[in-house]
Amino acid sequence: MKITPLHPSLGAEVAGVDLGTSIDETTRQALERALADHLALVFHDQSLTPAQYLAAAAAFGPPMEQHYSQHHMPDVSLIGLIWHRNGQRPAERWHTDHTNRERPPAATILYGVEIPSAGGGTSVASMRAAYLALSEDERRRLESLTTVNSLDEDHTDTRQEDRDKYGKPIEHPMVRTHPVHGSRAVYFHITKARQISGMTPEASKVYMADLLDRMIRPEIVYHHAWRKGDVLVIDNRATMHRAHGDYDRSQSRVLWRIIVEGDRPRLV
Ligand SMILES: [Fe+2]
Repeated sequence: MKITPLHPSLGAEVAGVDLGTSIDETTRQALERALADHLALVFHDQSLTPAQYLAAAAAFGPPMEQHYSQHHMPDVSLIGLIWHRNGQRPAERWHTDHTNRERPPAATILYGVEIPSAGGGTSVASMRAAYLALSEDERRRLESLTTVNSLDEDHTDTRQEDRDKYGKPIEHPMVRTHPVHGSRAVYFHITKARQISGMTPEASKVYMADLLDRMIRPEIVYHHAWRKGDVLVIDNRATMHRAHGDYDRSQSRVLWRIIVEGDRPRLV
């Protein structure tokens, strides 16, 4: 296994690992550490069945159910389909996944199955670097704040059964300590956070949007331009990510998504 950084702030390519074969414990531990250190891992030229993909993803944690069940792969509910022809809009705002869960996913894993000829990339930002770049005063302020999270309010096709299961308010700190790395990162999801505790929903959204504008700079962003067969693993505990909708909609862009279980976010 060879790990090559892709950007000064985050992201690394992992060569010499075939995710279609079983991963031994030594390799698994090395991958877990590499993810905590680099925050985004790229594996090229993979060729995976759904079952092989699920087995490989388990190296990063147990796969967990995704809450918009209308986008589950038929017969393989632990894989979600990211596909505009499923009626989805690309998630173009910066976010981290599934913050409405008490224990949000440690990692989101994407497998490029059909890739448009241009555009349609995925960007990942280091919220560890974003935290360190804030002023001392603002770091202290964020450390004292929590968000109250639920399902996205702007989705119109959410099933009632998913609302019942995943719509309960869940509170998370706005700065969390990485359980493997020990570092701190800014943590929130602007469309899942109904409000910041002690602030109105309106003021909360204004503050979160302002934070994103100030924090996310090119120096802390790795942009992944997809090739068919790529697997991208994103550490949700210390990054935010976004999709780019800048591709020709007559072409297909299909990513298979798996999320794996994480810890309850905490600041220590
Ligand atoms: Fe996402």
